[in-house]
Amino acid sequence: MHAIVIREFGGPEVLKLEERPDPVPGKAQVIVGVRAVGVNPVDTYIRSGTYALVPPLPYTPGSDGAGIVQAVGELVRAFAPGDRVYFCGTATGLATGAYASLAVCETSQVHRLPERLSFAQGAAVGVPYATAHRALVSRAAARPGEIALVHGASGGVGIAAVQIARMLGLTVLGTAGSPEGLELVSRQGAHHAIDHRGPDHVERIRELTGGHGVDVIVEMLANVNLDRDLGLLAPHGRVVVVGNRGRIEIDPRQTMGKESAILGMVLWAASTGELEAVHAALGDGFERGVLTPVVGRELPLAEAPKAHELVMAPGARGKIVLVPAA
Ligand SMILES: NC(=O)c1ccc[n+]([C@@H]2O[C@H](COP(=O)([O-])OP(=O)(O)OC[C@H]3O[C@@H](n4cnc5c(N)ncnc54)[C@H](OP(=O)(O)O)[C@@H]3O)[C@@H](O)[C@H]2O)c1
Repeated sequence: MHAIVIREFGGPEVLKLEERPDPVPGKAQVIVGVRAVGVNPVDTYIRSGTYALVPPLPYTPGSDGAGIVQAVGELVRAFAPGDRVYFCGTATGLATGAYASLAVCETSQVHRLPERLSFAQGAAVGVPYATAHRALVSRAAARPGEIALVHGASGGVGIAAVQIARMLGLTVLGTAGSPEGLELVSRQGAHHAIDHRGPDHVERIRELTGGHGVDVIVEMLANVNLDRDLGLLAPHGRVVVVGNRGRIEIDPRQTMGKESAILGMVLWAASTGELEAVHAALGDGFERGVLTPVVGRELPLAEAPKAHELVMAPGARGKIVLVPAA
């Protein structure tokens, strides 16, 4: 099989395409012939070698993708060769194993890909949609009629959060930092799209809530926004920290009078049972057409270094996916 292999930590240049032996499935495992792979920001943090998660070298990066079941272990009944699937996680370990033409997965990591979604769209589901669903439902307990701010709505998780918040019956405010991103956020169903680079964007968000404040914030860049988020929250509001890239000073007093809450979340903390429920809910949304992943860029697997530069650059407009050669 073809696979991206990292033999030393460092910049995007350490991502090298190699030929590796084809995997064979364990008794309860599924081998997916990968047609598209999701590129997630965490792949770049891990590649640098400075993140909390440090896989043993050499390793193949990546958490999620989509393709066709190629082989199954003797105990697998839920899938058969030829099934269209997406996967979230692989059997090789946390955030590893997906940047390849074949991925070995536990059965619980594999889910059916609805006919209406392409493989590239399927590669935009595993991490982003499950993260957005957990943030809104499991952590924030968002209720119909509430106001949600998706702070960073133009990327993989943000688009998923906008669509899921609409599915749940919330009023949705979404931010982006480019004209294309703002247009995309509106097209995905946000009631208002706001430029998070605009000097008056916080005031604008406050006005758009009619002075009530925001009930739920899904935050993609907490080290920049968390203190201002606390000022934007409504009484009993919740901010879910999904993304963070450094330290920030906050005034905790802002949480007291409103009895508001700061909630951390990481997808890896979800139990297998919780993830089953999340993917069942997502599958229903995909089937009914109320959830539709948006792919911004498709690149060949060999261009993984370029994809790692793009995913960290401003101007997101959907998911970046890699396509292994046939
Ligand atoms: N906790 C978890 O389990 C989990 C899971 C998945 C992802 N994450 C994290 O969540 C974050 C988003 O992931 P992703 O896959 O959606 O990444 P992405 O596709 O690269 O999108 C990044 C988003 O952040 C926005 N952004 C940039 N500057 C911002 C600012 N000042 N304020 C608010 N938003 C800003 C970008 O907008 P523009 O480019 O338009 O400026 C874009 O919408 C990343 O930090 C990632 O590591 C966490």
